[in-house]
Amino acid sequence: MAAQEKKASSAASTRQATLAVDGKTVTFPVYDGVEGPSVFDISKLYAETGLFTFDSGFMSTASCESKITFIDGDAGILRYRGYDIDMLAEKSDFLEVSYLLLNGDLPNVAQKKEFDRTITLHTMIHEQLHFLYRGFPRASHPMAVMAGAAASLAAFYHDSLDVNDVAQRELSAFRLIAKMPTLAAMAYKYSVGQPFIYPQNDMGFAENFLNMMFATPCEKYTVNPVLARAMDKILILHADHEQNASTSTVRMAGSSGANPFACMSAGIASLWGPAHGGANEAVINMLREIGDVKHIPEFITKVKDKNSNVRLMGFGHRVYKNYDPRAKVLRSTLEEVLAELGKIDEPLLKIAIELERIALSDEYFVSRKLYPNVDFYSGIIYRAMGIPSKMFTVLFAVARTAGWIAQWKEMMDDPKNKIARPRQLFTGSQPRPFVPVEKR
Ligand code: SDX
Repeated sequence: MAAQEKKASSAASTRQATLAVDGKTVTFPVYDGVEGPSVFDISKLYAETGLFTFDSGFMSTASCESKITFIDGDAGILRYRGYDIDMLAEKSDFLEVSYLLLNGDLPNVAQKKEFDRTITLHTMIHEQLHFLYRGFPRASHPMAVMAGAAASLAAFYHDSLDVNDVAQRELSAFRLIAKMPTLAAMAYKYSVGQPFIYPQNDMGFAENFLNMMFATPCEKYTVNPVLARAMDKILILHADHEQNASTSTVRMAGSSGANPFACMSAGIASLWGPAHGGANEAVINMLREIGDVKHIPEFITKVKDKNSNVRLMGFGHRVYKNYDPRAKVLRSTLEEVLAELGKIDEPLLKIAIELERIALSDEYFVSRKLYPNVDFYSGIIYRAMGIPSKMFTVLFAVARTAGWIAQWKEMMDDPKNKIARPRQLFTGSQPRPFVPVEKR
């Protein structure tokens, strides 16, 4: 094995990993990160042994080196660029967090003012894009509309498609963060047959989104500042989360040189799944299905029955084997929103709280370290705000666009970036002769 190659941004450990296979011993360099598990670099494994690794679902595989987000699943820690998520949710705002994810540090006063203004000036979308929406049935799932609308931005913004131009990469990042709320609100308005509401440059990011969602041309609409603050906090909590399925999808798509709008559309597609970002919508459907606290024991029995294929949606996580720190913040935000709206007796909240209490004391969930995740409470907040459940994952996508584009930019800024091309364990047919159809 060649001498340990020191990577500029990760320290080569004094340790080495050794593999003995087929009578051959191969050593691999170990790299230590700033925090979290170390890795051993197996990029030369195939050349040295003719073997691939096999790690279906990537349970033990680091796909990249990143400086953006750190998660300690056992301790229930989540940090963006070193800042704890609960501190950012309490003290920052979504655009400031977007700046942090993109640039690595919090902005100073002048940088914050310039960034906020830049994003504001990109919130409108091309008028022609309105016609794309008109091609969809009104009853379309808004995630289908979003996947199409995000990719279609590449048809309009030709001056930010060159992924090899740093300035164009930055411009597409601004456009995506700015336009996703507009596209999302338009998807909602289209679904309810109301006219699109234009962004207002004198509004904050979350306030503008809620205004585009709920204002009409017929009368003045004022966004409740408590709800705007709650929405902004929710966007912060959902902004990034290391190499989750949708972020890995964005990185995979971007590794081929695809334009950032197409990559975001790929991320939206992956996020849509109920095991991932679609879980918030699934949680509300589950709570509605349970219907009453007295039906919880029967539902829990169903969840424990492997043949039922029923899962406790909003619970469990590939990384968190402790309480998701975002769920803790969402729980308190939920109480603030319900109190503000006079809905503290929301029936679904009662079911959710009792479900959580039972699950956190039940051996089945405790032994599998299944705790509430980010999706368990978010849907109840959205519902209380009057947002329909089909829009929940759209809101997740609006927030996660900041993380997706920051991760994409980090990958594109890396001179060592190459196309991601995994291999496989082939278990298909051996070579066989073609048989004409009349003889089969
Ligand atoms: C998000 O990756 C991210 O960072 C994602 C995310 C982000 O911000 O990007 O955090 C957002 O996607 C949050 C997760 C939202 N999904 C859900 O709430 C759907 C319900 N949860 C699960 O389907 C599940 O917990 C996953 C998909 C989240 C994680 O699954 P894993 O890590 O592959 O775990 P597993 O399926 O192998 O489960 C381990 C055991 C199994 O039981 P046994 O086979 O050991 O007997 O736990 C059981 C599972 O059956 N289990 C559950 C369960 N989740 C796991 N049983 C009941 N209900 C559940 N929710």
